[in-house]
Amino acid sequence: MAVGVFDSGLGGLTVLDAVQRRLPEVPFVYFGDNAHAPYGVRDADDIFALTCAATERLWAEGCDLVILACNTASAAALKRMQESWIPRDKRVLGVFVPLIEALTERQWGDNSPPREVAVKHVALFATPATVASRAFQRELAFRAIGVDVEAQPCGGVVDAIEQGDEILAEALVRSHVEALKRRMPHPQAAILGCTHYPLMEATFQEALGPEVTVYSQANLVAESLADYLARRPEFVGQGTESKFLTTGDPRSVSNKATQFLRRRITFEAA
Ligand code: DGL
Repeated sequence: MAVGVFDSGLGGLTVLDAVQRRLPEVPFVYFGDNAHAPYGVRDADDIFALTCAATERLWAEGCDLVILACNTASAAALKRMQESWIPRDKRVLGVFVPLIEALTERQWGDNSPPREVAVKHVALFATPATVASRAFQRELAFRAIGVDVEAQPCGGVVDAIEQGDEILAEALVRSHVEALKRRMPHPQAAILGCTHYPLMEATFQEALGPEVTVYSQANLVAESLADYLARRPEFVGQGTESKFLTTGDPRSVSNKATQFLRRRITFEAA
């Protein structure tokens, strides 16, 4: 049994870390498409093709259930994959819905009409492709009314993180937060809508100020996956081995991953 975790690069490791802690008995196969990162500046067709190829690779590893630990793929490709591409015996889940359920205080499967919620002003930080897709606003509108969302496309941040340039990533985060605050001076909540951004969570929180609640996805996705597998145990597929696959250079990706997670991670070529 194994579950697949996909990201364009290293960001999904924040989700992998949380799901491994929550479900220590489940083997996970991680796939980082580092050779094609960042996805956030690609168009929707390109993101769809790359995400399908990575998902097929994870199916070949015996993972019947694949988590897209990538907001850009979840926003730009998942709906199309679910509507036209995924066979009946496989599942692909994204990272948006657990976050929106937490923000709108809903339980999984609560399909009641949208209602007023406590939070009214939400700042969304995400990649340019995720912001352009408006997938966050679409999913939110199914569940809540009267929420004002201001989205900031955070160009450059994923690149800086993938290159291991923390100083540049910090400077970019601060300037993106400032740009957003010019349009929405007092957000109540901020969504880190890219799985790379938890690596910069302290900088986001500091730049936003202590009164802003910062939502990051990893733990929410882990809870939601645990819940899903309790209801659908048949989707813990045939694979038995945890491993890390990359389309990039395994040595350099392993070194950066080890630096991010502060434990030894060894990638192999996908
Ligand atoms: N970490 C991914 C996300 O959650 C991808 C970012 C990118 O490749 O641009 O959006």
